[in-house]
Amino acid sequence: MNVGLKTLILPAHEAAMAQAARLLAGGGLVAFPTETVYGLGADATNPAAIARLYEAKGRPSFNPLIAHVSDLAAAMRIGCFDTTAIALAEAFWPGPLTLVLPKTRDCTVADLATAGLETIAIRVPAHPVAREILRAFGGPVVAPSANLSGHVSPTTAAHVLSDLAGRIDLIVDGGAVAVGVESTIVGCFDAPMLLRPGGLPRDEIERVLGRALVQPPQDPDGHSEQPLAPGMLTSHYAPRTRVRLDADRVEAGEALLAFGPAEVAGTDAAVAVMNLSPRSNVDEAAANLFGYLRTLDGKGARAIAVMPIPHHGLGEAINDRLRRAAVGRD
Ligand code: TXA
Ligand code: MG
Repeated sequence: MNVGLKTLILPAHEAAMAQAARLLAGGGLVAFPTETVYGLGADATNPAAIARLYEAKGRPSFNPLIAHVSDLAAAMRIGCFDTTAIALAEAFWPGPLTLVLPKTRDCTVADLATAGLETIAIRVPAHPVAREILRAFGGPVVAPSANLSGHVSPTTAAHVLSDLAGRIDLIVDGGAVAVGVESTIVGCFDAPMLLRPGGLPRDEIERVLGRALVQPPQDPDGHSEQPLAPGMLTSHYAPRTRVRLDADRVEAGEALLAFGPAEVAGTDAAVAVMNLSPRSNVDEAAANLFGYLRTLDGKGARAIAVMPIPHHGLGEAINDRLRRAAVGRD
């Protein structure tokens, strides 16, 4: 285990980005902001670096990684784009959309990163810091969210540090991210499939496709051998404290994750209260979600009661993450 590394944190100036690229080229692990959440980057073509990355996160290596590249031309070198995939890439890249496609024959991304699948997940991030690091490095960078496996994704450099200090080489601090939930993942299969709701709302994608995204086949226990979205295990994104959904009152000893202007019974006696969006805005709620869960997780409450959150727009991704958080871990 590589615990014991000195993890450097640098503000996102030019020198930090250059150092990030150098470290990546040398097989190092570098956390950096994307517009969705902070990612933990490694050289996608370097199996030793990828092995270190799985180890640093405590992530099972059967859960494949997203390759981040700087533009569609670079993406086309590693993934086979059909007309649908090109339409989605042109409409939404750079941005919070990941496409799952067949690998090209000469794809340079290591098999370890794709967990031996025939497909590869690719994304072109929009955050200027991520873009500058990709440009300076000059090749594909695999980057899962920069948290310990199973934990809530990081939306600030401080979150990354609290999970991964001593396990990675560098954190480039670009401040709090804008979107707050991970990218939307679309499988470009015969019928485009929503593998993970995320930072790009479903209806924007469906508008470009001119058809509805299909749902992945249900996998009730979430543990099939070759799930279509292998990372979507039921228990994921979980704080340590139990999460109780659709709360219409706060029980004794609970903390409250509120949404909207209305107050529920028991709020005054809550261990702690944070409101995702007092003005009921789902984009604002998404940006606050993971940070507020981390904060409430530290309050020693019996449970975190969560008020209902609408399903429109980014609400689909918020409700997806909350449902997984509520399942908890064995
Ligand atoms: O917003 C994001 O996507 C962030 C930032 C850092 O880019 N990254 C991220 O990565 O959320 P991660 O590793 O936490 O989630 C990637 C998801 C996992 O659920 C994984 O199973 C799925 O993508 N995935 C990767 N390759 C796949 C493939 N070939 N087929 C299906 N799912 C795949
Ligand atoms: Mg993750």
